Amino acid sequence: MVGCGADAPVAAVVADDGLPLPVLPAALLSYRVAGNPLPAHFITGPGAVVAADNTPATNPITDAGATLGRVLFYDVRLSANNTVSCGSCHLQSVAFGDTARFSRGLNGTLSTRHSPSLANARFYAPGRFFWDERAATLEAQVLDPIANPAEMGLPLDSLESKLGATRHYGPLFEAAFGTSAVTRTGVARALSQFVRAMVSARSRYDDAFQGGAVGNFAAVLTPQEAEGEQLFRGVGKCAVCHVGNAQIATQARNIGFVLAPSDTGAGGGRFKVPSLRNVGVRTRFMHDGRFSSLAQVVDHYNNGVADVAGLDPVLRNAAGLSQRLGLSQAQRDALVAYLRTLTDPAFLADPRFADPFPR
Ligand code: HEC
Ligand code: HEC
Repeated sequence: MVGCGADAPVAAVVADDGLPLPVLPAALLSYRVAGNPLPAHFITGPGAVVAADNTPATNPITDAGATLGRVLFYDVRLSANNTVSCGSCHLQSVAFGDTARFSRGLNGTLSTRHSPSLANARFYAPGRFFWDERAATLEAQVLDPIANPAEMGLPLDSLESKLGATRHYGPLFEAAFGTSAVTRTGVARALSQFVRAMVSARSRYDDAFQGGAVGNFAAVLTPQEAEGEQLFRGVGKCAVCHVGNAQIATQARNIGFVLAPSDTGAGGGRFKVPSLRNVGVRTRFMHDGRFSSLAQVVDHYNNGVADVAGLDPVLRNAAGLSQRLGLSQAQRDALVAYLRTLTDPAFLADPRFADPFPR
């Protein structure tokens, strides 16, 4: 691709501003359906998730658009002092969340919430973003960290002029949107296309659907994992809130944390939750990163749910009290073993989502 240094030796691929240029393959990678193709059990059957797709008709995923989004996602030029990119806080190795409880933005400023996984963010019917759902669309969300002084600190007027002055963005915008002009709308559309392309659908859980739309878990999972799958859908009630074959949320919920008054989420202690895909490789959980193991997460649901105002009715028992599941150690271990079957190594190493900048 013109201006992207695909054929030059890596060490020499530096722009006028002294920063590296992206190295992209000569032919565009295919992003249109990131499951490549999207598997049948995402499209039809009891666990289908396509009805929850929040892709707007005005911004379908194209290969050139997602490629531009990939470059923007990893480009430190999107920060005021060329030190922070989206990829600084959203690491592919942990499904585009962070390993740290809180993330470091501009000048080391720590975020006040944990960086969520972005895998399957596309499948959330309300289409709202952030743990507290304050962004009405993904297109609105992706510009927020750029201008936010604690994250990337680059006002959007400066963003347009700064990227417009580079040589590599003109051709990428031209390929994506038919004009080489760098606009915030184009940046928002391309970043959103890239994030929506992040479909995780190639885990061992998915292998259970090779025979059809209903999973045959006994055939591909160990007896312990299969027991965990039954607990997840059955007495654990997990699947009421983490639904379908992408284990996605349908709305923000209150799961019984005693919260600091400074952060009550989307109102009444409710928080959005990302898809549970790849929780097995993540190291911090929940909006405030309070848990550092899946065993702690399961213990919360088993006996830690507090009787707070606004607690989701699903987490109350018949007597109206906060639930105590009473799971045995073996059952809790089975739930954790099941959650680990949602790890998708192909997604975590997919070159289409990797950093294109030599570092
Ligand atoms: C300094 C670290 C940091 C940087 C840089 C950063 N993010 Fe985030 N991101 C976070 C944190 C923390 C949250 C959760 C904030 C909240 O919910 O209040 C978040 C939330 C999100 C969400 C919401 C996910 C959901 O399901 O609701 C998306 C999408 C996202 N970021 C994409 C991006 C993109 C695109 C960029 C680059 C333009 C970016 N982020 C830059 C830390 C960061
Ligand atoms: C009432 C709805 C509800 C039920 C039932 C439920 N969850 Fe959750 N889950 C949520 C919400 C909401 C969050 C995010 C809460 C927060 O961050 O404050 C969450 C967070 C999680 C996380 C952390 C995800 C991340 O990326 O940080 C895991 C893992 C999880 N749940 C697993 C389970 C398991 C296992 C069960 C069954 C034992 C279960 N959930 C039952 C709503 C629910």
